[in-house]
Amino acid sequence: MTYLDHAATTPVLPEVVAAVSEAMSQTGNASSLHSSGRAARRRVEESRESIAEALGARPSEVLFTSGGTESDNLAVAGIFRARRSADPARRRIIAAALEHHAVLDVVDFLVASEGALVTWLEVDDFGRVHADTLAAAIAENPADVAVVTVMWANNEVGTVNPIRELAAVAKGYDIPFHTDAVQALGQLPLDFGLSGADALTVTGHKVGGPTGNGLLLLRRDVAAVPLMLGGGQERGVRSGTLDVAGIVGLAVAVQDAVDHRAERAVALAGLRDDLVAAVTALVPDVVLSGDPGQSLVDGAPSRLPGNAHLRFPGCEGDSLLMLLDANGIECSTGSACTAGVARPSHVLLAMGLDEQTARGALRFSFGHTSTPVDVLAVAEVIPAVVDRARRAALAGSRRR
Ligand SMILES: Cc1ncc(COP(=O)(O)O)c(C=O)c1O
Repeated sequence: MTYLDHAATTPVLPEVVAAVSEAMSQTGNASSLHSSGRAARRRVEESRESIAEALGARPSEVLFTSGGTESDNLAVAGIFRARRSADPARRRIIAAALEHHAVLDVVDFLVASEGALVTWLEVDDFGRVHADTLAAAIAENPADVAVVTVMWANNEVGTVNPIRELAAVAKGYDIPFHTDAVQALGQLPLDFGLSGADALTVTGHKVGGPTGNGLLLLRRDVAAVPLMLGGGQERGVRSGTLDVAGIVGLAVAVQDAVDHRAERAVALAGLRDDLVAAVTALVPDVVLSGDPGQSLVDGAPSRLPGNAHLRFPGCEGDSLLMLLDANGIECSTGSACTAGVARPSHVLLAMGLDEQTARGALRFSFGHTSTPVDVLAVAEVIPAVVDRARRAALAGSRRR
C-alpha cells in the first residue's frame, strides 16, 4: 500500500518499538519506593527531561497524558474551571472555529453543561486566525475571558497560525493561552518557551511514537482542575499510574521528530509540491485548499510541509477515497463521518466554502516513511479515479 495519511497516524519508528519493548520487560510502578519502582521513576524522569529539552520546556512543565484528545480536554476544561472558580465572572472561552473536535467538543460541552460562553474566532480564506481578530474578541470584555485556545497548525488543510503573535495578545491581558500542536511537532520548529503559550498539546502517534501516549506542557503558574481524580500523579493534575514503557517510547519519538525536523520538512515539502504539480497536470480543475505555502508565519513555513489538501470539483470525497484505496493508495477525506453519514468538513465551511464545494476533498499527508514513489503511485491512478468518481456523482444526482 502507498500510505499517505500521516496526519491521521504514522508508522511506529523501529527505535520506538525497541525502546518500548525493552521498557515493557521491566516491572515497576514509578510511584513505588522500592528498587524496581525507583528504576521505573528514573526512566520516566529521564524521558521527561529529554522531552522538555527537545521542546523548549522545563521538565516540571511536562505532564504525561493518554494523547492529544486528553491533553486538549485537560487544557481547555481544566484551565476554564480553575479560572472560573478563582473569579466567577470569567466564563468565556475564545477558540478558533476550525479546531480539532478534541477542542470543539469540550467547548460545546462546557457551554451546554457549565454555563460557559464562547467566542469562535473567524479565520481567513486560508484558515488562519489573525492576531487582530483575537485582540478584538478579547477587547469585547477582557474580564470575562477564562482561556484562549488556537491550534498551531490545522490537521485538515495544514494552515499554520501565528502562535507567537496570538499568545502575545492573550498575555497582554494575562489570559492563559493554549495551543494544540499535535500536527506541528516534527514539521515546524516548536519551542514552548519561545512560543509564549501557557499550555501546549502534543501526541506521540503523529511522529512515529506509540498511540495512547501524549503530553500537555503546562506552565507552573497556570492552574488546571484535573479531569481525573486518584493517586495525584503529574503535579496532581493527571492521576493514574504512569505508562513507563509508553513514555519511554514517546521520548524517543519526540527526540527523533525534533532531530530530523529541518531536513524532513524540506523533503516533505518537496514531495507535497511534486504531488500537487503532478495531480494538477493530470486533473487541471483540481484546487489546493489552504495556504499556498510560499510565505512564513512566525519565521516558519505558512503551511505544514507534509500536507496537500485537494478539492476535486464534481466528485464526492468518500468515493475518491474508496477508489484510491482499491488502487492501493491510502489517504483521507479530512471530513468527519459520523454514524456513516458523510458531512462536509467544519474546517472547510469555516474557511467560507459552501457544502457542495467542500465535498470532493482529499487530504494526502506525507511523513517519515514517504518517498517519491508515493507521488508516482498517485499520479498513475488519479485520472481514472477522478473520472470514475465524477461519473458516479453524476449518476447519483440524476437518480435524486
Ligand atoms: C490537531 C489534532 N488535535 C488532537 C488530535 C487528537 O490526538 P489523539 O489521537 O492523540 O487523541 C488530533 C488527531 O487526529 C489532531 O490532529
